[in-house]
This record gives sequence, structure tokens and C-alpha cells, in this order.
Amino acid sequence: MSQPIGTSLPGILLPATSDISPAWPSADTGQWGLVFQNRFKKLHDLLDGPDNLPDAHSVRAAIRELATDIKALSGGITGQASAAAQMSEHEHKRNLDEALRPISAYHNRLLEFHVYDTYFGVTRSLIFPLDQFTAQLTATVIRLLDDLAHTLLNIDDVAALLYASELMLRHAQGDTATTPRDSESTNAKSVTGAPAALAVGPMYRWRLGHHFFALCAIFSRHCLLTVANQIPSGSPESMAELLDWATLTLRGTTAAMWYATNMSQAAYLGKIRPSMPKEFSGTQNLDYERLKQARESVIGALTRNYGSSLMTCPSIVRDAFAAHCEAEVQDLEHHTLIAASKVGGKPSLLGSPAVEMLRTMAQERREALAMFLSVE
Ligand code: HEM
Repeated sequence: MSQPIGTSLPGILLPATSDISPAWPSADTGQWGLVFQNRFKKLHDLLDGPDNLPDAHSVRAAIRELATDIKALSGGITGQASAAAQMSEHEHKRNLDEALRPISAYHNRLLEFHVYDTYFGVTRSLIFPLDQFTAQLTATVIRLLDDLAHTLLNIDDVAALLYASELMLRHAQGDTATTPRDSESTNAKSVTGAPAALAVGPMYRWRLGHHFFALCAIFSRHCLLTVANQIPSGSPESMAELLDWATLTLRGTTAAMWYATNMSQAAYLGKIRPSMPKEFSGTQNLDYERLKQARESVIGALTRNYGSSLMTCPSIVRDAFAAHCEAEVQDLEHHTLIAASKVGGKPSLLGSPAVEMLRTMAQERREALAMFLSVE
């Protein structure tokens, strides 16, 4: 396996179970993100204002201001995040092995998941309290914001990345998160370990995009599993809100893919593609596999309780789930276009044309979800 990962590339610690434990608030009680709410509001006004055309210069300036604020307040957290991600490959594999053992379908694929994680600089811990999520999220968001102002992304994807960051930061809590540091003591480079803008190369962006993708997938899964457990007795309003959050972070995963591949085709084909191990595929992404399972749990709970037409399901829950399914189909449609922009008709690392494979997956998913897409 080729592994051209330099020390300047970011690493991330993720839960081996994809769970945050022991308990993660499902209510919107976080304090950390509230610190930045005015900065996010400014971005909302710039990106979503009905009367003005968003101006790239102002959006970039507001992203930089947000990044500066988060850095200024998070010195200790990001240091912790980087230190925690330093784990030996042996320890990482052992943790993964232990977490996957109870589920043979996953355990049989241990090697695939391990290779995928290792390539992207992901290490896994068996214990993952909320303040570890806060630390990893904060470090990743800072790195993302530092680079975002230098991308050439679509406005909708910039917004999706920012709104998913905002939602997750709002829920992030932990002892460290409530003790902001003095901005004078914080140096942007030493906090994040992120190279200066011009030094960020394709591999950095490719890796970091996958980290943000994973955090969104974990958050989205958490919301879906909470809903699956609440059906049918939970409050419809609360379930609909959780489904909206699951959708917002699912859209965050889509935007993370656009971000990760925001480079020329030549850079992708010349630097990224040759660096991947043989027979490598996104289907080996453990957090995404578990996100798909969580969606199936919601479908199972909904149809068991309300029948396959969902006609007796509270309409706000039904509509929120329809929007989620729509976002899932669109995710695969985006994915097809992303692959097309980078590899055109070339065969994938698995041998078959990537674009065709993704197009088929989008079509199959659309057919499988058809009954939920048309519930309105
Ligand atoms: C940040 C996350 C992701 C990015 C940036 C991304 C990007 C890409 C790109 C550029 C290709 C073309 C690959 C090539 O042939 O060189 C591709 C193919 C593909 N991706 Fe993703 N992807 C991501 C995550 C995922 C996930 C989670 C899945 C899980 C289903 C997935 C499934 C596939 C499949 C099935 C293909 C086509 C065949 C293959 O190469 O495996 N991807 N993706």
C-alpha cells in the first residue's frame, strides 16, 4: 500500500463505535457554538440575504473572522485534539477490532476499514466522550475555515459546510469548551498545525475533507438513531427537528466531498489517485456504513409503527424524513458529478467505471426511497 502522508497532514481521532458516549444531548443545549453565533449570523446574512448577491470578498472576509475567533478561544482544545490523534497503528487496529467484533458483518471487513482509516490519518478510540468530540470538531472546523476562503466552491456548498459546522459546534460541549483562552495567547499556526494557505496542497484538502465528512456522518447518525428510538412515543416536533439536523449534516457530507475534491482534474489524477491503495473505495468508510444502517433503523421504526405508506405518521415527521431521503438521493447525484469531474469515464480503483457505478447507485437509491420521497 502506498502511503505518502507527510507529517504536516492533519490527523483525527474518531470513536471506534461511531458513538459519542456516555450521553450526548439530543436537545440544543450546547454552549460552545453560541460563542460564535454573531459571526455565523453575519455569514447567514451574507449568504442567504434575499435582496443582495453574495459577494465573494465579503464572504471570505467573514469566514476569516470566524476562523480567527474560534482559534482565539480554543487554544487548549485543538492541542488536545492533535495529541489524542497520535496513536500507534497497532493500538488503532486493536480498538477497531474490539469495537467491530460484536457485529460479524463489520468484523469481517476489519482490514478494509483499517486500511481506509490509516490512509486518511484516522485513529479510533474505544472511549469517546463529548469533550473529545468537541476537541476533534473544533480542530477540524478551524482547519476547514482556514482553507475554505481559498477554495473555488459553489455558494451552496460553502453554506452547507458552514451551517453543518455551526450546528455541530452548537451541540459541542465539554469542560475545555467552556473556558475560552485569551486571544493574545493564541497563534493560528501553532494552534491548528495547518500550513499557511499557499502551502495547503491537494492531499491536505483531500484528507481534511474526509475528516469533516466523518464528523458530519457521526452527528447525522446520532440524530437518526435518537429518532429511531423515540418512534412512536417521542414528541413529533423533537423528532422532526432531529431529522432536520440529520439532513443538515448529511448535506454537510455532500459539501465535504466537493471541498475534498476542490482541485483540478490534473491534481486529482496526478497526486491523489496514485496515492490510494489498490481496491480502495468510499464503501470502506466505516462511519458512512453506520450512517446508512441508522437510516435503515429509522425506516424500520417508521414502517413498523405507521405502515409503509406512513399515512398515520405525524406530518411534520413524515415531511422531515422525506426531506432527508431527498438529500440522500441528491448526495449520490452530487457524488456522481464529483467523480465525473475528477475521473470522467476512467475505471475506478475497483475496476468498473466510477461514474457509472455511482449513477446506478443513485438510481437504485431513488427507487428504494421512492415511497418516502412522495409522501407529501
Ligand atoms: C469526502 C468523501 C468522499 C469523496 C471526496 C469521494 C470522492 C470520490 C471520487 C473522486 C471518486 C472517483 C474515484 C476514482 O476512480 O478515482 C469516487 C468514487 C466512488 N465513491 Fe466516493 N467519495 C467520498 C466518500 C465516499 C463514500 C462514503 C462512499 C460510500 C458509499 C463512496 C463511494 C464511492 C463509490 C462506490 C465510487 C465509485 C467506485 C469506487 O471508486 O469505489 N465515496 N468518490
